[in-house]
Amino acid sequence: MTEKARNCVGYLPLSYQSLLSLWFDSLFTQEPCPYVMVLQLRAASLQYAPFLVLPEAELMARSKTSKQWMDEHVNDPYVKKAQIDGYRSRASYKLLEINEKDKLIRPGHTVMDLGSAPGGWSQIVAPMVGESGRVIASDILPMDGITGVTFIQGDFTDEAVYEQILQALDDAQADVVISDMSPNHSGVKTTDQYASMYLVELALDMARNVLKPGGSFVAKVFQGVGYEDYVKDVRSSFEKVLVRKPSASRPRSREVYIVAKGFKG
Ligand SMILES: C[S@@+](CC[C@H](N)C(=O)[O-])C[C@H]1O[C@@H](n2cnc3c(N)ncnc32)[C@H](O)[C@@H]1O
Repeated sequence: MTEKARNCVGYLPLSYQSLLSLWFDSLFTQEPCPYVMVLQLRAASLQYAPFLVLPEAELMARSKTSKQWMDEHVNDPYVKKAQIDGYRSRASYKLLEINEKDKLIRPGHTVMDLGSAPGGWSQIVAPMVGESGRVIASDILPMDGITGVTFIQGDFTDEAVYEQILQALDDAQADVVISDMSPNHSGVKTTDQYASMYLVELALDMARNVLKPGGSFVAKVFQGVGYEDYVKDVRSSFEKVLVRKPSASRPRSREVYIVAKGFKG
């Protein structure tokens, strides 16, 4: 670690692990934290681990709002609970709550998990489907292995990756497609909204391609431009469509989960 890096870390009131988890979480929540945005920029330009390069001046100049944001994330009860329960991400609780309410995943099911890293959803789905079931997971980021989960790494918007995921199904159909994909936020709201709508549209396209009649689809969607049309589009292919806001989803985040049941085929 360089002298400069040591100085920077010295100003952070966070453990190494909390900061990394904060950084990872912030990539996908569309709740940009000023610290983390700076971290990402520096990381991109210096090709350095992100937590090493936050300059002193930016830390010193942090506003009250930033501090509140930081406190909120660091003290997040779901982050702490996930560490205790051994879940890879706090996102596990969102799917657990949705599944508890909507009874989507059963033993023997084939489930496709899109945007699966670091594996919080896959790790709870694998035991739900059991040995007679299958989980096909995919993410642009790497993911540590999980028993019973076939993982394909690649950009879902890339046609070749889309095909690879289809091939992993071996011509079988899926019972449930779940998508927690959200793009790395740029901090520019409109750009982020378009990017995330594009991903959920592709996820819906995949669901239409692979689901058995009667199958279910869950997708994280950010309320904003294109949201209403998207829900309408989902309704055209499923018998029942609900919008869920699990308690682990931060109240001020515009994310909601579309839960669609009864694929019309
Ligand atoms: C909120 S995280 C998913 C968390 C996961 N459900 C869990 O429980 O651990 C969103 C994921 O979407 C992925 N993602 C974003 N854009 C993607 C793309 N173009 N192709 C594949 N995955 C993508 C990110 O890499 C990230 O891992």
